[in-house]
Amino acid sequence: MFSIEIQGLSKTYKNGHQALKEINLKVKKGQFLALLGKNGAGKTTFVEILSSLTKKSTGKVIMDGKDLDNNDASAKLKVGIVPQEINLSIFEKVIQVLITQAGYFGIGVDVAIKRAERYLKELDLWEKRNQAVITLSGGMKRRLMIARALMHEPKIIFFDEPTAGVDAEVRQKIWKIMQDLNSEGKTIILTTHYFDEAERLCDSLAIISKGKIIINDSLRKILNQCPKQKYLVEIEHEKNFIIKDKTISQISDFLFEISVDLENSLASSIENIINYGGKIVNIQPKNNRLEELFLNLTE
Ligand SMILES: Nc1ncnc2c1ncn2[C@@H]1O[C@H](COP(=O)(O)OP(=O)(O)OP(=O)(O)O)[C@@H](O)[C@H]1O
Ligand SMILES: [Mg+2]
Repeated sequence: MFSIEIQGLSKTYKNGHQALKEINLKVKKGQFLALLGKNGAGKTTFVEILSSLTKKSTGKVIMDGKDLDNNDASAKLKVGIVPQEINLSIFEKVIQVLITQAGYFGIGVDVAIKRAERYLKELDLWEKRNQAVITLSGGMKRRLMIARALMHEPKIIFFDEPTAGVDAEVRQKIWKIMQDLNSEGKTIILTTHYFDEAERLCDSLAIISKGKIIINDSLRKILNQCPKQKYLVEIEHEKNFIIKDKTISQISDFLFEISVDLENSLASSIENIINYGGKIVNIQPKNNRLEELFLNLTE
């Protein structure tokens, strides 16, 4: 039932820095978990330990039923990682990167070529297949790292800030890939600094602060704890009018700010503006409520 089970996981680097402190976490099969945390909070350390790229100091980690302490090679087969830092061999040909990767997992060349074709096409890199990595743009390299992570068809995939520095179109493509993988039943762990991305994609959320998990729950439950959500409402130019509604404040002749929470619905505030004669031309969220919660919780 669980993809990942972690008990008392800690990590102290050789220089004495403790990056992870007694982490306990369970991730269900097919879950889409977003891991949020400030720079240096410990996200990459966490993701790399679970992908067997970095050694833990203490604690127990079980990946799809396999205890990492048993050094079972099959545990590695279950996990794919798209790392935060680009770590491709720059002179290797694009398609060769994928075939080499498949080789590490004992996948035959025929199967590897078929999978490489499929993923390079899905990630819009097929035309570049015979070019060296060095000739790719940053966003293309990131997409190639995604294809590489999928070559052994892992059940659990870590995406460590996959959309950092990519354009809007590529970002949406990466979102779609993660969603498709998740709907095929794969467990996805996404680290991101984009709150809208986390809110849009994941079903559960964990916040890590100074090496500790301080929140871990379903997205819905976490959003229910969120402070006020603010919206900006633009009306057709009107002269000042006073609205008696504690959720509404007028910012300029044509701009109102609405602040709603669980007790005050956005709909009733909007209705009020219309009843007072305001002709609404635009409504947009002013803040991201997840971001507010995050900033309130993390030091
Ligand atoms: N090899 C290392 N040796 C010593 N300290 C390290 C090492 N790698 C990371 N750290 C430290 O561990 C802490 C956690 O780093 P980590 O890279 O896991 O953070 P992160 O949450 O991924 O941050 P970011 O959002 O910037 O990617 C930081 O204080 C970092 O300086
Ligand atoms: Mg990181």
